[in-house]
Amino acid sequence: MDGNLKVQIPQDEGLEKSLSLLSEGYLFIQNRCKRLQTDIFQTRLFAQNVICMTGKEAAEIFYDNDKFERKRALPKRVQKTLTGEKGVQGLDGHEHQHRKHMFMSLMSDERLKDIVDLTKKQWEIAIVKWQTVDQVVLFDEVQEMLCRISCQWAGVPLREDEVKQRADDLGKMVDGFGAVGPRHWQGKGARKRSEQWIEEIVEKIRSGEFNPPKETAAYTIAWHQELNGQLLETNIAAVELLNILRPIVAIATYIVFGAHALHEHPEYVEKLQHGEGQFVQQFVQEIRRFYPFTPFVGARVRHDFTWKQHPFNRETLVLLDIYGMNHDPRIWEQPDVFNPERFNDWKRGNFDFIPQGGGDRDRGHRCAGEWLTINVMEASLNYLANQIDYELPVQDLSINLSRIPTLPTSRFVISKVSRRAR
Ligand code: HEM
Repeated sequence: MDGNLKVQIPQDEGLEKSLSLLSEGYLFIQNRCKRLQTDIFQTRLFAQNVICMTGKEAAEIFYDNDKFERKRALPKRVQKTLTGEKGVQGLDGHEHQHRKHMFMSLMSDERLKDIVDLTKKQWEIAIVKWQTVDQVVLFDEVQEMLCRISCQWAGVPLREDEVKQRADDLGKMVDGFGAVGPRHWQGKGARKRSEQWIEEIVEKIRSGEFNPPKETAAYTIAWHQELNGQLLETNIAAVELLNILRPIVAIATYIVFGAHALHEHPEYVEKLQHGEGQFVQQFVQEIRRFYPFTPFVGARVRHDFTWKQHPFNRETLVLLDIYGMNHDPRIWEQPDVFNPERFNDWKRGNFDFIPQGGGDRDRGHRCAGEWLTINVMEASLNYLANQIDYELPVQDLSINLSRIPTLPTSRFVISKVSRRAR
């Protein structure tokens, strides 16, 4: 066979598909892969040609730093809400590795233990409070809880009367990235306010007015030196410190999905209560697999290359379907069934289970906070399954897959909370 033979990438016929993305949400890539019977297709999104891919082999190529880069990969609307500008997500090569090393230095075992201790403390305080009210919206309460936890852990001062607004802003930055109109504008406003808040803190640290402990993110980021020996520009330091605070608050989404799973699958509550073996870990992994959070990740082609005879042209934007891979029947038996036991004998791979990105964490863009997320989820699930009793008033628990990001519609309301008698 001719080794240079090129086969055109299957086409998603038609004009700009951004409106379809808005209406199909998490299923946008999967729907087309099924229809075209392919793992790869080309479409028009964000006013440009875009290649969408799914599957383990696609993930392997996507995380090859020689083939893809992140420069200009994030749409402006995502930078204006979710990530901020000039942060680690858009860096490549040595610059990226140097910045990523700074993030990973914050994730030592001791520091992960610190955040678990803070998490337990906040749950204890919350339970006392929740017992005095008729009902609480779990998502909103957990966001506030995680806002306190993230700031304490990261060395960012936070007055109690600020918690509501800061938690709301950190949440809105995530909520606004996949939307157009008011939800997006709210996300932009929230980012502006949050960056201003953190810039002032960075300035106070640098002027000596405020001295957070050395091991914290606030200290590390404020004094981080770039490869050229310079401190980060104040705004970039704020973007990076928010790259710690914002995603910690976002763990609220997974915790609420955990509560949803406990409600839908009472058969697992007892197993969690008895703390059988590694079951809590398996349960948490299955939440990260089964429920929708990250829809896809994007990168740009670094140099022209050919993969499976398909031409990849320099600078083309490529999206890897994270949600689709979590539900890929070639990777997961009965992917649409919630079954934590599937992780019983699961062999860890860098490209098959990638709810928070894949590949090598230190050299690539895989999530810096994956272990932190798992630790905070495990501690929180223990409270939901073992430490409290509560009821669910009538509410809409449906999860709308066309909304990115999504949640149970009611945000999970619980009532009659009481501490379980031992
Ligand atoms: C709440 C659950 C979380 C989800 C669903 C999530 C998801 C992701 C995803 C999909 C990526 C991009 C992977 C890629 O581009 O290939 C990422 C990157 C990142 N995440 Fe997370 N994440 C979460 C929690 C966290 C936490 C708790 C932290 C820090 C405390 C964190 C810090 C980061 C950073 C710094 C990056 C950029 C890494 C890089 O570009 O090298 N994330 N995350």
